[in-house]
Amino acid sequence: MDKLVIEGGKPLSGSIRIHGAKNAALPIMAASLLADGEVTLHNVPHLLDIEVMLYILERLGCTCRHEQGTVTIDTSSIRSYDVPEDLMKQMRSSIFLMGPLLAKFGQVSVYQPGGCAIGERKIDLHLRGLEALGASIEELDQQIICRGRKLVGTDIHLDFPSVGATENIMMAAVTAEGTTTIFNAAREPEIQDLQHFLNAMGARIIGAGTDTITINGVEKLKPCSYEIIPDRIVAGTVMIAAAATRGNVTLTHCNPAHLTSLIHVLKRTGVQITVCNDIMTVSCMSRPKSVDRIVTSPYPSFPTDLQSQIMVLLSLADGFSVMKETVFEGRFKHVDELNVMGADISVDLNAAFIRGVPRLYGATVEATDLRAGAALVIAGLAAQGKTVVEQVHHIDRGYDRIEKLFQSLGASVERQSPVSKQLDFAN
Ligand code: UD1
Repeated sequence: MDKLVIEGGKPLSGSIRIHGAKNAALPIMAASLLADGEVTLHNVPHLLDIEVMLYILERLGCTCRHEQGTVTIDTSSIRSYDVPEDLMKQMRSSIFLMGPLLAKFGQVSVYQPGGCAIGERKIDLHLRGLEALGASIEELDQQIICRGRKLVGTDIHLDFPSVGATENIMMAAVTAEGTTTIFNAAREPEIQDLQHFLNAMGARIIGAGTDTITINGVEKLKPCSYEIIPDRIVAGTVMIAAAATRGNVTLTHCNPAHLTSLIHVLKRTGVQITVCNDIMTVSCMSRPKSVDRIVTSPYPSFPTDLQSQIMVLLSLADGFSVMKETVFEGRFKHVDELNVMGADISVDLNAAFIRGVPRLYGATVEATDLRAGAALVIAGLAAQGKTVVEQVHHIDRGYDRIEKLFQSLGASVERQSPVSKQLDFAN
């Protein structure tokens, strides 16, 4: 497994272009199945999760290419609606294939994506939504078979504004007969991006970005060419890293409107942020101040996907902060690792209590999941001395070569691959 070796303590400085959003690209790639022919997607990041999704699409019979940020998916030869168990277990986002395959074939078979490092992550809201559209669900141990030759639009009330359930229902309902309305829908920017993409293929959807989404069913969709939005979580990670290292960084090709809750929190810590269209500059010249309380919850509130990263900044802040996690139940795995680096954080159920320390110290730590891993990289960049972050494959799921990203901002970060892997590359 790869490791990152970081010599910390250098303020980040320079300019960086933000890549396309993983969480927008994955459902959009799945939604491409709804069209017959070749869909072209631009600004698709080079990430492990994207490669897994392309591999699954190929296993279903599609022909796919990914070159320099552009993905093409030709669905003309798709022949299967069975998503293999090994691939379902590799990536939770394979659940996005349910809605489009059900809409296309009237049947889909998937497997429970299973729990993961950040919590239980059930799919009951996905299944109930598809059932409400008229599908029957059969659960055989780990396999889930969903049948529905004729889906019919209806009103669907989500108990919780789940991002994935909202997207799956949108994709299934797009060719259903009549009108589907999703109430208490998730409002994340990635859902708006999915709406724009589906509409570009001929769907008739309004309301994404609000809590009520209306989908008027259409007969069929046609292929299109589409550009994915910038990744707000990658942008947020860079902003926090700039602040934690007391640096000065300009982000280009980002969407500041998607980051208002983070901008608000960073300003409260004393970080300076200037915004001009899709360019943002973040600078921090003195020790950040603590923030009495941050609560993660669905968009537009503070994102759970930036919780671990902001905790690094609060660890270095002057004063005492409280972080409450309300979206996932197991998302404080980075706390023990940060404490190894000298942080002073205690956890009680879903709240973390952070007493700021003047500095962190380099140590060997382990990335337990994607965003926890990103947080440890930030901690390593800000810390005094050498940090080794292990299990980097988690980070590769969501950041395109994170070491190159931070090297371009002046950081000293190197990736170390096991010898066997280096030989693989050589071949
Ligand atoms: C998406 C994002 C992920 C982000 C999360 C919350 C993608 C690919 N991933 O994940 O990065 O952290 O939104 O912003 O877009 N839940 C249920 N039943 C369900 C579905 C969800 O109980 O059927 C619960 C989950 O266990 C979790 C909460 O709802 O506690 C939020 O999950 P959800 O919004 O669905 O997140 P994902 O779509 O999995």
